[in-house]
Amino acid sequence: MKKVYLETFGCQMNVSDSERVATSLAAKGFEVTPNENSADIVLINTCSVREKAEHKLYTRVGQFRNYREVKPVIGVMGCVAQLEGETLFDKISGIDFVIGTKAVGRVADAIQKVYDGESGVTDLGERELDYDWSVADAQRHSPYVAFVPIIEGCNKFCTYCIVPFSRGREVSLSASEIIRNVLELRRQGVKEIHLIGQNVNSYRPKSDSGLETFHGATPFSRLLRAVAATGIERIKFNTSFPRDFHPDIIDAINEHENLCNWVHLPVQSGSDRVLKMMKRGHTIESYFKKIDKLKESSRDIALTTDIIVGFPGETEKDFEDTKKAVEYCGYDSAYIFKYSPRPGTPAFEMDDEVTLGEKKLRFIELEGVQKRSQNQRLQRYLGKRVQVLA
Ligand code: 5AD
Ligand code: SF4
Repeated sequence: MKKVYLETFGCQMNVSDSERVATSLAAKGFEVTPNENSADIVLINTCSVREKAEHKLYTRVGQFRNYREVKPVIGVMGCVAQLEGETLFDKISGIDFVIGTKAVGRVADAIQKVYDGESGVTDLGERELDYDWSVADAQRHSPYVAFVPIIEGCNKFCTYCIVPFSRGREVSLSASEIIRNVLELRRQGVKEIHLIGQNVNSYRPKSDSGLETFHGATPFSRLLRAVAATGIERIKFNTSFPRDFHPDIIDAINEHENLCNWVHLPVQSGSDRVLKMMKRGHTIESYFKKIDKLKESSRDIALTTDIIVGFPGETEKDFEDTKKAVEYCGYDSAYIFKYSPRPGTPAFEMDDEVTLGEKKLRFIELEGVQKRSQNQRLQRYLGKRVQVLA
């Protein structure tokens, strides 16, 4: 029995893909092992959202190639695989196969081709029509927590972001399938599910099947109510796209105790000028309005965000606006990133005027602002009892 070791970088969608690949490989007679040294096959699920993430692939392949007596079969899947395709064979020696983000159902076929002696095995094709999205039977990262993809891909094309190119256009999964999966997960004893997607709240399935009896201003808020009705203990969802964030999502959270009181709403910048260059589709005013609604909610809702510092042309004044936005919103936590130019994106063609040194300084300064604001905000938990999943 061939042993496969899977290593995953990047977002929850990659984690979820890896879980389903592991499941299908196990069903096809492979042994999925947590021990990289004993593996016959190493599969690396890659991320290309920032340059640093992409470099991890180069480092890891080098280690597998050089530090093991017998080189394992090495496969690359995920976003770097999709974007680079066959060129990866020239860029990194030791790779045996490349699998795109839609071809994850055919990993076993690619492995077979490698063992049959084929070189340059590449599959960047589309999903099989009968691709099994099911996560209920998947090998999961936790027995208590499950990631449930509800929408894949992205149509937004923010100018800095590679995701629309690596993951393709938005495809929503059928609501009845999602609900069936959640019911099965609940039966298995899963306590918490995360509905995931690059933009979960842009959820728009082809048919209403499964949602007919649930009210809501958007298909997403109807899905939230439908999933809440399954009775599973805890439901989280991310990431939300600000422009599509309808206040009815907050109503749904207030109505259903099992919808966790947390929203992740990436602001990216506090400057309208930068937001426009980023093509985010929201102004800082329209974003603040959504935050105001969230803060007025009858349930205390935790709020987190993503912010990019040093976008091309970001001035000191723009950066000041971002600091002000952080103070205004009072985030429970924020992921701050230094802008990383991604070849193929529109922003890559813009003059990257902010030096790396300046990006670092802005990163540290913003982190300081966020830490102070966060400390203040977290005081509200002092003396309170809350339920957590350990
Ligand atoms: N540079 C830096 N950060 C980026 N992100 C996406 N693309 C880039 C990039 N080119 C960040 C955004 C997004 C998060 C997942 O990654 O903040 O919300
Ligand atoms: Fe990237 Fe923007 Fe799509 Fe998010 S919404 S994945 S930042 S293009």
